[in-house]
Amino acid sequence: MNIPVLTIDGPSGAGKGTVSRAVAKKLGWHYLDSGSIYRSLAISALDKQVDLLDEAAVAEVAKNMQLAFECDDELVVKLDGIDITARLPTEETGASASKVAAYPAVRKVLLQKQKDFRQLPGLVADGRDMGTVVFSDADFKVYLTASAKERGDRRFKQLKEKGIDANLDKITQEIMLRDRRDSERKTAPLMPAEDAFYLDSSDISIAEVINQVMILTE
Ligand code: C5P
Repeated sequence: MNIPVLTIDGPSGAGKGTVSRAVAKKLGWHYLDSGSIYRSLAISALDKQVDLLDEAAVAEVAKNMQLAFECDDELVVKLDGIDITARLPTEETGASASKVAAYPAVRKVLLQKQKDFRQLPGLVADGRDMGTVVFSDADFKVYLTASAKERGDRRFKQLKEKGIDANLDKITQEIMLRDRRDSERKTAPLMPAEDAFYLDSSDISIAEVINQVMILTE
């Protein structure tokens, strides 16, 4: 039986998380935030004092980590039984995630963990390679982007709202650096799937983006 999937890929700060969560809620589908898996891996490796430059050692951490996503009002992520939700959104975690995410051995270990999220009645999957690799047979694919300036502004506001100290210029620069690393890597680089619906959200509201994505799934 085909379990429907909607993939939403794109660079950081394009609004993928907000859009994916809203659309998943409207459709009554499950939601996969694949970035949080790479973020959790980075946290686990750093806590275990594993050298992030050691691909085999990081892949071993990926194999052994126990991740649980618990959805109450807000998403709670537990790593080996410990709540790490508050540590996930920082740009430092994002930068480390982007380093470990470049390793083919790591991506291989995490592939099945992500595929397991495909459950009835359907899945909205948010990431970089959801439509190109993990769910290349997805029924609906979106590539959501926005200008670097706009994405920097949004990310800055998001972090402030979460009470995380941030500097706008630094955030924008870090985002651009992370995008470059994610786009230039050899394995599963950030790029639109050939059959993806390309959406630039720089000049349209998130509500309008949600609307357009909903129309796509009709
Ligand atoms: O989406 P988010 O900012 O949480 O992702 C953190 C990092 O995880 C990204 O910069 C990227 O390097 C990596 N990632 C990935 N593939 C995905 C999702 C995230 O490589 N599907």
